[in-house]
Amino acid sequence: MPKKDFVIIAIDGGAAAGKSSTSRALSQAFNLMHVDTGSFYRALTVKLLEAKIEPQSGDSMNEGLAALSLETHVEGNTASIVVDGWIPDETIRSTEVNQQVSRYAAIPELRKRLLGYQRSQADVARENGFAGLVMEGRDIGSAIFPDADLRLYLFADPVKRAQRRAAEGISDSIAARDKMDASRKASPLACPEGATLIDTSELSLEQVVAKVSDLFRATQEA
Ligand code: C5P
Repeated sequence: MPKKDFVIIAIDGGAAAGKSSTSRALSQAFNLMHVDTGSFYRALTVKLLEAKIEPQSGDSMNEGLAALSLETHVEGNTASIVVDGWIPDETIRSTEVNQQVSRYAAIPELRKRLLGYQRSQADVARENGFAGLVMEGRDIGSAIFPDADLRLYLFADPVKRAQRRAAEGISDSIAARDKMDASRKASPLACPEGATLIDTSELSLEQVVAKVSDLFRATQEA
């Protein structure tokens, strides 16, 4: 149980680096609200594709983004985005969205639209009685919560990551997404300065969770 009133753990890293499984396990171990910001970018991608809005800056992007209402649904330890209604998981994780999401995530206006919404999840967590927040993404420790109690950057060998996705039966463009995410101008994927780097290639989920839990406890005792 965290000793501080409210704690924030930021977990960044490339696709299939182990962020979601680790975040979920931490959320349950320490009564934290789990927020997967990748699902936010995916949900907006679904809506913009539906509206036939191209991944480029301009009036149509601004109008398309302004028309979307963003709400949160909390179930168990997980907070999910609701964008003008519920979007099924198989839709936000479809092959088409896997191929398109990084193109939309590179648009500064879209990232700006999500910035305040992502930060507001701390209030949602407080209102729902959680002891804190574990938020995963690409820029959480650098742009969203640079003052988080613990900032981690997970990475894994690309072959291992491809194997993880294949084992889940998902067709994903891991390497292409990472390349686009790391090379964009707006909040690129990178290990934030001062964050702790963890190579999960040879570690089981239990080992990663144990390591992160120790780091987290150490921040609580500091
Ligand atoms: O985490 P996930 O792989 O589901 O994220 C999907 C995509 O959303 C990423 O490849 C990236 O383009 C974008 N993303 C981002 N910033 C975040 C989280 C995700 O740009 N904080």
